[in-house]
Amino acid sequence: MTNAHTSQQALLKQAQLKQAVAQAALAYVKPGEVLGVGTGSTANLFIDGLRDLARDIPAAVASSEATRERLQAIGIEVVNANEVSRIAVYVDGADEINPQLAMIKGGGAALTREKIVAEMSDQFVCIADASKWVQRLGTFPLPIEVLPMARSMVARALVKLGGDPVYRQGVVTDNGNVILDVYNLDLSRPAEMEATINNIVGVVCNGLFARRPADVLLLGRDDGVEVITVS
Ligand code: 5RP
Repeated sequence: MTNAHTSQQALLKQAQLKQAVAQAALAYVKPGEVLGVGTGSTANLFIDGLRDLARDIPAAVASSEATRERLQAIGIEVVNANEVSRIAVYVDGADEINPQLAMIKGGGAALTREKIVAEMSDQFVCIADASKWVQRLGTFPLPIEVLPMARSMVARALVKLGGDPVYRQGVVTDNGNVILDVYNLDLSRPAEMEATINNIVGVVCNGLFARRPADVLLLGRDDGVEVITVS
């Protein structure tokens, strides 16, 4: 078997696991309540599954423009976050998630709106294939949304914290900002690092979701969808 064939098989398997968790998340949607919807390939599969439930969903808050368009395309009304005070359930993917259900998010550059929706939600259901499960966060580079004029200044501050920031070329967020992907940060205390990075002037938001972790993880494994919570 060639390497190309093996990696194609792995991608196919990953796609099946994403589909399985997206399907499982439909059971968490609360009829008659506002739904928060995330961004990315796993969230897109969840949105596709919402088609049959659209009539039961009075409104949704989207974590990105792409998600807003996808929800509207299946007839779900998308409201501005300022129009609601709480969101019942938020379903979204992750780039990494650990046993405390703290996450790295932002691979799709939607981290700021994702964090706002997470903060407003009573329940955060993370949907992820097994490749996202880690004992320790930090192999995936940490995305940080930064005001364009502060990019170099923030990058220097991140180097002082031990990180290696890389400017994500050609990407402008839905909020008109840029992304730095930071390698090699020590994320052994994710909640502390989340607060430290937020304190750098010019940082809009960082992709550590430790202060408001997920409440439930639906993890797609070869033998089925595992439901993980932290007691
Ligand atoms: C987007 C995100 C996504 O949740 C994360 O990148 C996972 O994406 P995918 O489901 O495509 O693997 O944080 O900003």
